[in-house]
Amino acid sequence: MPLERDAQGQLHLGGVSLSAVAADAGTPAYVYDLDAVAASAHALTAAFDGAAGHLVAYAVKANTAGPVVRTLAAAGCGADVVSGAELLVALACGVSPDRIIYSGVAKTDRELDGAIGVGQRGIRAVQLESVEEIARVEARARAAGRRFGVSIRVNPSVDLGEVTHAHIATGHDEAKFGVAREDAGRAVELVGASPYLELVGMGMHVGSQLRETGAYVEAARSLFELVRALRASGKARSLVFVDTGGGFGVDYGTGPAAAPAEFVRAARAEQRAFGLDDLALYVEPGRSLIAAHGVLLARVIQTKVADAARWLMIDAGMNDLIRPALYQARHRVVPLRGAVDPARSRGWRVVGPVCESSDDFGEHPLPAEPPAEVALLDAGAYGYTMASRYNGRQLPVEVFVSGGGVVGRTERVSIEAWAEERARAGGIT
Ligand SMILES: Cc1ncc(COP(=O)(O)O)c(C=O)c1O
Repeated sequence: MPLERDAQGQLHLGGVSLSAVAADAGTPAYVYDLDAVAASAHALTAAFDGAAGHLVAYAVKANTAGPVVRTLAAAGCGADVVSGAELLVALACGVSPDRIIYSGVAKTDRELDGAIGVGQRGIRAVQLESVEEIARVEARARAAGRRFGVSIRVNPSVDLGEVTHAHIATGHDEAKFGVAREDAGRAVELVGASPYLELVGMGMHVGSQLRETGAYVEAARSLFELVRALRASGKARSLVFVDTGGGFGVDYGTGPAAAPAEFVRAARAEQRAFGLDDLALYVEPGRSLIAAHGVLLARVIQTKVADAARWLMIDAGMNDLIRPALYQARHRVVPLRGAVDPARSRGWRVVGPVCESSDDFGEHPLPAEPPAEVALLDAGAYGYTMASRYNGRQLPVEVFVSGGGVVGRTERVSIEAWAEERARAGGIT
């Protein structure tokens, strides 16, 4: 069940009244519809048309909550992790090690040991993001006495300047991510020369919030062209997969984005065109599986009306949802009770309590007489996972909905516990 209003104008997510959740759990609170998350994974998996060995490696960074990761694992997803801690979450949620890939530009030895040492053979692959990293990963594999699977994340040199926000574009020449295309051949040779490393994949991830398939396909072509050339010259014979990354965009209210399945179909078509159909296709979606299926609930603390603006001050701030401050992102703000009548709405500048000018969710059409509670929409991805305790604020709680009811929720840590911990920092009192 999507986000919908009942006949009385009450907003529901997954069949659960959000006013009731706010009353029970307090605010700020994230609410996730696990059934809708599972449905989005199934829709994406169907786009592979049963292609052998394919993998939807859910980018755990988007939302690390166990119920979300478990739901996606049960729907057939593996995991793409970017830290030792995320790897532990994925494993604890039942993701099989051979369905986990590990990206990241600066993995510590301890993190590498965790990835190499798990299970019978370690995880599916560590994604190498620089030539320099190869010797480090090899040293850890040698220390573990294991031959270990690696994938080379290539930076396909695609400028997404016009396509997405600069902070979430990762596949251009100045990005710290990935092995430069011209260094990829050398990286393949170095891996091939190691008795401890096995090159199982070649991949990329060009950025996030791509609303059309064009730039993604362009980058995939660049990757596939490279892989085809390497194989033609007798290299990279051990490859098992190509990985075209995540980045499928969502509609934050500014117009539809291409469905994740369209990205997969387009990448598959290119893969076939380049004669690489013997390799499995991996993708690494985060946002597109979960963003639309989560909301952030907040209470209105007060209004402030001046000549310059009309502010609606809510109890959720940039510490709870940092995307607007970090990426100038916009999340629609809607009342929990009563739809907004455009003819009678006023523009309210919705801001949080954090002591920063950037604690600002933008102007939204809301009733002239402001609502008591609001929801910030499409907040399931990169919401709680980027939350902080800045200004001593409590972390928001998370509420999980499935089968038309609440199936679990986290507890709010008290401000007293935080104050005590800060006051005693370093054991000096
Ligand atoms: C390596 C990697 N893969 C996948 C993703 C997921 O991207 P998205 O949430 O846009 O699908 C990210 C996000 O930044 C990433 O860094």
